[in-house]
Amino acid sequence: MLKRRIAQPLARALVSNEMTNPSETPAVVTTAAQLRTHVDRWRRNGERVALVPTMGALHAGHLALVERAAELAGRVVVSIFVNPTQFAPLEDFGRYPRNPERDLAILRGQGKTDLVYGPDVSEIYPSGAVAEAAPKGPALGLETDFRPHFFAGVATVVSRLFLQSRSDFAVFGEKDYQQLLVVKELARNLGVGLEVVGVPTVREADGLALSSRNAYLDVQQRKVAGLLNVVLREVGVRVRQGASIPEAETHGAARLIAAGFERVDYVAVRDAETLFPVRDLKRPARVLAAARIGATRLIDNMAI
Ligand code: PAJ
Repeated sequence: MLKRRIAQPLARALVSNEMTNPSETPAVVTTAAQLRTHVDRWRRNGERVALVPTMGALHAGHLALVERAAELAGRVVVSIFVNPTQFAPLEDFGRYPRNPERDLAILRGQGKTDLVYGPDVSEIYPSGAVAEAAPKGPALGLETDFRPHFFAGVATVVSRLFLQSRSDFAVFGEKDYQQLLVVKELARNLGVGLEVVGVPTVREADGLALSSRNAYLDVQQRKVAGLLNVVLREVGVRVRQGASIPEAETHGAARLIAAGFERVDYVAVRDAETLFPVRDLKRPARVLAAARIGATRLIDNMAI
């Protein structure tokens, strides 16, 4: 009940936009059948389709994905869906920022999106909001150690969006690097010929990765948050200068606590393709971190 009540205003706002502005770009649809009608028409004309899955609360990071999608394909679909199955019961599903009118205005202003898909929960989960996927490989460890439900929810919603949209491409941010690898593997396993494309992280002037969750931070917390990317860069420099990886990870976590983070879930140097732990930099590596300021959990990562 709770999920339906929260999710409905989004679909309703999108529908009312569709009613009041039928000729505006982007067009807005809320059902998979309507989505299919648009995509089928494009496909018959030989056009290719790129999908950008989002949970809304759009910012310049999302717009960079849309920009890339428009380079890849003639038609761009942005989905806006706050996916209940990737939130644990005590996480921020209820208070996750929702502002579909603002999201639409932003996409309209950018002028690169052909269609917005804003489904109700029942459109993605006709028989109830349950995660069915059980991703392995890159989904093991890191985020999964702290949010065990998370990638099952992401993989379930993303596979449904892939199948419903029949896109040729789907664009994801490196900001959520483990998610990007999980989704790449998912697309390979689905075998529907969809290519997942990653886009580098868009950052604020102080290097803080743009995130819808940054809106939860007060002024003091925002200052602390700006140090996450600084510490990640330091870890990379230390490892490149010959520090052992465990030593650099421990030092990075201690730096975050000293900077004002209240809890560090992980600071980890991993293989950039498999996310396996590494001992040296013989292959491309990535440093990834998750840490909390108050109730807000931030993640970031960087190539070493
Ligand atoms: P959301 O957090 O809305 O992010 C949507 C997409 O935007 C993801 O691919 C994410 O990596 C990308 N993104 C977010 N911040 C970014 C930044 N600063 N720079 C570049 N890209 C950025 O991630 C999700 O939603 C959900 O898990 C979703 C994939 C939609 C499944 O529900």
